[in-house]
Amino acid sequence: MSGTAGAPGRSLSVSATIAIFEPPQFDPSQTLPSLMLNGEPETSPLEDPWPTTPSFGEAHGKRTVDIAIDRDTDLYGTGEVTGPLRRNGQTIELWNTDNPSYRRVQGQRLYQSHPWVLGVRPDGSAFGILHDSTWRQSLICGRTIRFETDGPAARVIVILGEDAMDVLRQLSNLTGKMEMPPLWALGYNQCRWSYYPDARVREIANEFRSRKIPLDVIWVDIHYMDDYRVFTFDPERFPDPAATNAYLHERDVKAVWMIDPGVAKQDGYSVYNSGEARDVWIKTADGQPAQGEVWPGQTVFPDFTTKEAVHWWSEQYQDFLAVGIDGVWNDMNEPAIFDAETWTLPEDAVHRGGAAHAGLPIPEGPHLRYHNAYGMLMARATRDAVLKAKPDKRPFVLTRANVLGGHRYCATWTGDNRSCWHHLKMSIPMSVNLSLSGQPFHGPDIGGFEGEAWPELFAEWMAIGAFFPFCRGHTIEKSADHEPWSFGPETEEVCRVALRRRYALMPYLYTLFRRASETGAPVMLPAFLADPAEEELRFCDDRFLLGSDLAVEPGWADKTISLPEDWRLIPPLAEEVPGDIHPALRLRPGGLIPACAPAVSTEALTLETLTLHVNFDQDGHATGSLYWDEREGFGFENGAYTDLSFVCQRTDAGATLKVTAAGQRPLPAETKIIVIDVANAEQPVLATRLGAVL
Ligand code: NOJ
Repeated sequence: MSGTAGAPGRSLSVSATIAIFEPPQFDPSQTLPSLMLNGEPETSPLEDPWPTTPSFGEAHGKRTVDIAIDRDTDLYGTGEVTGPLRRNGQTIELWNTDNPSYRRVQGQRLYQSHPWVLGVRPDGSAFGILHDSTWRQSLICGRTIRFETDGPAARVIVILGEDAMDVLRQLSNLTGKMEMPPLWALGYNQCRWSYYPDARVREIANEFRSRKIPLDVIWVDIHYMDDYRVFTFDPERFPDPAATNAYLHERDVKAVWMIDPGVAKQDGYSVYNSGEARDVWIKTADGQPAQGEVWPGQTVFPDFTTKEAVHWWSEQYQDFLAVGIDGVWNDMNEPAIFDAETWTLPEDAVHRGGAAHAGLPIPEGPHLRYHNAYGMLMARATRDAVLKAKPDKRPFVLTRANVLGGHRYCATWTGDNRSCWHHLKMSIPMSVNLSLSGQPFHGPDIGGFEGEAWPELFAEWMAIGAFFPFCRGHTIEKSADHEPWSFGPETEEVCRVALRRRYALMPYLYTLFRRASETGAPVMLPAFLADPAEEELRFCDDRFLLGSDLAVEPGWADKTISLPEDWRLIPPLAEEVPGDIHPALRLRPGGLIPACAPAVSTEALTLETLTLHVNFDQDGHATGSLYWDEREGFGFENGAYTDLSFVCQRTDAGATLKVTAAGQRPLPAETKIIVIDVANAEQPVLATRLGAVL
């Protein structure tokens, strides 16, 4: 590596623990406004010496930046990646790519780009490195953390933290928090490519309800469209989408429908004609609409860097959502193209800019600059459109492509995995690393997308998948049925119980989402946070934590590595039998988690009886909390919620419980509270009413 000539770049302080390092001769117009941050941080010159500083240079005709690390630093994050949880020695390419079965380029690039590394030192202290650029780049976790970019030299943001959680919270102060999702989005989601005609959608809903398997959402994939044209409905398969959605709603089932970015280039198709008239497409270098083959044939792509395209996109959603669609699934938004050697648009395609980000105009730039941000810009425009169409509802958008920071607008899933043990197991480190890259709401296609699952695989996948932040079963076109009952009664029962466990934990899960939206604390966490001093746990990617209090440990986890012994098993939440296929759930010493009776939908959950599982620490003490609100809408922003803090103390006679409440939508005073000491779960240590302990 050789140094770049010119004046050294500025070093700026954002806070005592966040610094920004600019490269020599930094040209801000090439990378700012940062689409990853939620606004430009205020800075002052960095005066104090800084322990972790980048060194800028050039190599192989690319701009490089290296951050030296101690040999014993463990690296995590790096976004959506295949391979192990611990990223030391891994190289990835940050260039969003449609990657079926993760087989392209050895899985070194997937659908999202997060130029971000979280470093954790042996003592548990941590730091984060963000290369603040969406241009194509590689991220090499070697003896240094190196970013090597085809774009111009970009600034680096370094965050120092007491521990990993501290770094992630600080990252979210820069990137923004996720929005509070509607509760239904945390329920079970049933998908396939595709349920059609509409009668099949109704049948699926009825099967779930008659079999009493929990379900909140059915997903409608591309076959509902008229010849794959976005914002249309096939007149034969879905002649009356409003009636289909109403049918689902009557059964407490929500409907999420897919929208891709590619608009069929067909004269006479009103969406294309209006986009053409408004001149909203990404252009080739010679000024023609850039096009490529996707499902409907040749398509053109809205340029979400422009104001006009964002407005136009929003207009398309108004009638579409009026048929009772609850949420939107944005797919293929790398953007993926079938007839291009690069699987996407040309690097020199032109994004004209002009739309704003955090109050600043997005400048014109080539696809090489905006490709990685395309999915996020699309999801952002979709989220804004959904909110505009349904101002009283919390928007729910799922995106395939994204860039760091995109969690502000949407949830995500890990794309086209395969029905195999390897991908089932890898789904844990994939999701945990997304958490460690600032995205709290994610999960895999349960059962595997490509290929076909078999009973044991599906059962194991549902048993563990029930504890991911986003919980959705999905499968590829023309595969055999992949519903919980498709694999025989034993697998069906495993799925029912797995999902009932999830629904019983909903008070805890919803509280974790609330905390993520308030503080940036991820919902799903690495197992090493159970004991940051235990070196072996740093490599552990076959179990995880849900929030910092609950460990989820599948039966197939390597038993030679263990969580600290004082993390105790919680008693059954549904009908699971200890030792069967369902992952063990262990509670942190000093932890307290709220649970309720399971139900078939989040709408049907009631908190009439709250069970508090406690694992007293050495001092006989345990603490926890519960957030609950109207499950939907924005009343919570004006106080329509309850937030209870619990302090439980073991006594000779059992336990005492103190509760403090915030929010203006209290749970009824007669709410029954049962406190279970997980060390001795036979008999509650306390049974009382909320009114008595408030
Ligand atoms: C690709 C997506 O990854 C997959 O989930 C979806 O089913 C197909 N596109 C069809 O829309």
